Amino acid sequence: MSEAASITVRRMNFEIRPDMEKYWFGGNPLISAFFFAMSATFPDGERFFIDTVRHYQPGIDDPELKQRIRGFIGQEAHHGKAHEDFNQALEDLGFPMGEVTERSKWLLNNARQRLSPKRQLAITVALEHVTATLAEHALRHPEIMAQMDPTFRDMLIWHAVEEIEHKSVAFDVFRQQVGSEWLRRRVLLLSLILFFVRMMGFQRFLMRADKRRASLREWWQAMRFFWGKGGLMRESLPHFLKAFRRGFHPDDIDQRPLIADWQQHYPEVAALQR
Ligand SMILES: [Fe+2]
Ligand SMILES: [Fe+2]
Repeated sequence: MSEAASITVRRMNFEIRPDMEKYWFGGNPLISAFFFAMSATFPDGERFFIDTVRHYQPGIDDPELKQRIRGFIGQEAHHGKAHEDFNQALEDLGFPMGEVTERSKWLLNNARQRLSPKRQLAITVALEHVTATLAEHALRHPEIMAQMDPTFRDMLIWHAVEEIEHKSVAFDVFRQQVGSEWLRRRVLLLSLILFFVRMMGFQRFLMRADKRRASLREWWQAMRFFWGKGGLMRESLPHFLKAFRRGFHPDDIDQRPLIADWQQHYPEVAALQR
């Protein structure tokens, strides 16, 4: 029996404001563009996640895992849609989001064509660990989230809750259907490197397209955001490293308290449920 949280598919009503500030993370272009880059890659990335799990779906007999797979697919499909709407709003502000999407799609299509289903699933397992880890950081730091555009913040909180709910689904499918720890760990290393290198590349591309250079002060703020006390990378790195252990399971990192009472902690987000 899995310790995983139950997986609820929630439909949300986000009202994206067309007049949002361009660099809506406190005006900082580096941090804002990092979130833009992630948002641009989510819809196709999540479709890839769904397909890699779906491939193994017919072979799963365990009714509980079957149920969780359905929840996972439903959640990821809604995330993709919400981010697509937001990406369009950023495109309307002048950012070439479609171009970033195309570039990440190219990478994913390459993976689809060249890699075996088990390797593709291992990528999903790796990136689901990344999303659950980034989700934990978001839920642990409301003070950081408060610096964002409010709609994106709400979207990210909802997304974070659901990423934690379904974080072990792809993993459990992999363990049951593939089971190679060697493959899982090797692909984890490559996926982590590729993910962050691409995000930094896209971040740079988006800023360049807008002819925006960061000031020294903005660089300093971004360094603190990623690597300072409570920083995104500083807090995430230990979780990333933990996953390299032989026999690691995502539930070894207990994130349930973070999502247990999320509706009470974020009533404004809960109210957006349809
Ligand atoms: Fe997602
Ligand atoms: Fe996910």
